[in-house]
Amino acid sequence: MVEKSTQKQDTTPIGALPTHQWALQLHGPGLYSVDRVPLPTPAPGQVLVRIECAPINPSDTYFMSGMYKLYTDDPNKVKYPMAPGWEGAGVVVANGGGIMGWRLVGKRVAVTRCREENRMFSIGGCYQQYMITTAMQCLPLPDTMSLEQGSMHFVNPLSALGLLDTAKTYKTKAIVQTAAASQLGKMVVHLCKEEKIPLINIVRRDEQVKMLSEIGAEYVLDSSQSGFGERLKELADKLQATVLFEAVGGETTAEVLEQLPYNSVCIIYGLLSEKPISNLDPLLLIGRNQRLEGFFLGHYLTQKSIWGQLSLFKKCTQLMSSGLFKSDVAKRVSLFEIKDAIMEYKANMSKGKYIVYPQQEPTPEDMSGQQ
Ligand SMILES: NC(=O)c1ccc[n+]([C@@H]2O[C@H](COP(=O)([O-])OP(=O)(O)OC[C@H]3O[C@@H](n4cnc5c(N)ncnc54)[C@H](OP(=O)(O)O)[C@@H]3O)[C@@H](O)[C@H]2O)c1
Repeated sequence: MVEKSTQKQDTTPIGALPTHQWALQLHGPGLYSVDRVPLPTPAPGQVLVRIECAPINPSDTYFMSGMYKLYTDDPNKVKYPMAPGWEGAGVVVANGGGIMGWRLVGKRVAVTRCREENRMFSIGGCYQQYMITTAMQCLPLPDTMSLEQGSMHFVNPLSALGLLDTAKTYKTKAIVQTAAASQLGKMVVHLCKEEKIPLINIVRRDEQVKMLSEIGAEYVLDSSQSGFGERLKELADKLQATVLFEAVGGETTAEVLEQLPYNSVCIIYGLLSEKPISNLDPLLLIGRNQRLEGFFLGHYLTQKSIWGQLSLFKKCTQLMSSGLFKSDVAKRVSLFEIKDAIMEYKANMSKGKYIVYPQQEPTPEDMSGQQ
């Protein structure tokens, strides 16, 4: 197990690259192993990044288990075996060609997996020691930001900003959010506080009420308490909360939406229950003019101009550097511990992120598990 995070991790000097590396290899939905594979070679426009750390996000677990059927049911979309891992951080160690990549060599960067044409998945992600990505997918990190926090730069912080930006287009007076004790939910709490937007937070356990109150959340409702629906309705009416950030799905979407005022918009951005939306009364959408829409960070970013994206990244780096967007870390693990880490993480997600450290060499026990 990796013991602790360091502000600036040791890195192999550039030029001394190995020929092979350890990589988590996904062989099909739910099937993975840690294998010794050749180092990938970056093409023009791409760089090679030595990955120091990478979080396990819900989207990683969905992709690995095959829940993203849109991709995994199509044999032409995902080229197995491949390394999963949506985001991470490390040091750029080689350039495949191009001025952007050349300027990045030697820099500490936050990265996301390579964006490929036609939403293909043929190039591996961050759960390996070295990955290739496009120079455009690398964001240089300030010296003051640890690689660990930097590894969580993209997915949650940018989505929190994107969700709030989207809510503002509806000119709502207040917002409601489910799964509010998530890392993303806590970022929304901070953003709404800064912008003085009343926010009704919904959690499912008493200790999460305490957790959110401690970071300054004003309205926190526990959905496991009796009278939850009435209290939500009363508060949503009073504050005129007509935008819902919904990350649970299953029965939660309808249970919450039916307490919200006429003309409310439910922005669905997660599926933490891992179940389809159920029990939704069509009359909510017809008679009460309520609406459902999806939010996906990738789509949100592509709608923005390059300048819009750059200013969003800049704002995000500022919020992260200020500590407002700091993510909690529950545990640090090696590539060989990912399977157990996912199970532990799912059992208590509010505890914080599990961070994978791919440079951690295998222990003798890991090696015997490889036989
Ligand atoms: N659409 C996008 O572009 C996008 C981008 C980023 C993130 N997301 C989504 O944002 C959500 C939050 O991500 P995160 O990384 O911040 O999560 P996280 O920190 O891992 O926390 C997940 C939270 O959800 C709660 N939760 C889990 N299952 C639940 C259920 N069935 N009902 C109610 N609450 C439940 C957990 O509570 P317990 O401790 O009680 O389990 C925990 O507080 C995820 O759904 C993720 O997929 C979407």
